[in-house]
Amino acid sequence: MKSSYKLDEARETIDIWRGNRESIGFVPTMGALHKGHLSLIERAKRDNKRIVVSIFVNPLQFNDKNDFDNYPSTLEQDQLLLDEAGVDLLIAPAASEMHPQPMNFAMSVKSISDVYEGQFRPGHFDGVATVVAKLLLLVGPSRVYFGEKDIQQCYVIKRMVEEFHFPNVIEIVETYREASGLAFSSRNTRLSDASKRIAPSMYQNLLRAAKEIRDGSDPATVINVAIEKVAEAAKREAVEFGYDYVELIDQNFKSVAQYSEGLRIVAAWTLDGVRLIDNLSV
Ligand code: PAF
Repeated sequence: MKSSYKLDEARETIDIWRGNRESIGFVPTMGALHKGHLSLIERAKRDNKRIVVSIFVNPLQFNDKNDFDNYPSTLEQDQLLLDEAGVDLLIAPAASEMHPQPMNFAMSVKSISDVYEGQFRPGHFDGVATVVAKLLLLVGPSRVYFGEKDIQQCYVIKRMVEEFHFPNVIEIVETYREASGLAFSSRNTRLSDASKRIAPSMYQNLLRAAKEIRDGSDPATVINVAIEKVAEAAKREAVEFGYDYVELIDQNFKSVAQYSEGLRIVAAWTLDGVRLIDNLSV
């Protein structure tokens, strides 16, 4: 695998592949790679000749400086994993090159960024859209792969690509979970042992809630029961639990009160201050 820390150098490599009309699959990441990322790479390998991965912890998408400062960084280990996974090119640029200062241009995401992740992380989706747009222009991939765990991010990027007529195909890959049901996330490394024991309980309880909703129970009631169960589990482990939202939504991220086809439950919660998100189909 080739590693490029300079954008020019990455572009040179990619230009050769493009000249040869080789399909390029692209997996943008912020590093601290885990099996979820590897599942995106596996999927990309099935569909493309060349695989490009980026590692860039994008300062623009962190509304909380503390969260940015504490974001895990494991570049050497990541490189080994990517090499083993058969990736052709890693792009790991410096922030000063990715976002030259002063920044005069940025993406501005409208209404979808007022709800859920957008509401609780002001500016987050503007930052994500800005860096993904830059990366897509740089890499020019045939297909780009995103994990369904960040379902609202998937929605934002799909809309951006449609509205700006980007030629890239967006592929959404199912969330990769531990046997317990806990979704793989770079943030899991920040959970204490006690938090790790109860982290899967949100998904487990929401899975039950989803079934009850399908079977005709009142969504708000069963979702509240699920939240209560997680709160009780956290209390037993002396872990501080809080949540930003746990809601039933439709495909346009509108909160809904009654069951119909195509709904999801989205959730964001904290365990001793570490913030996790997840979602599942109802
Ligand atoms: O999902 C992520 O890791 C990031 O939001 C992304 C898409 C790499 C943009 O920085």
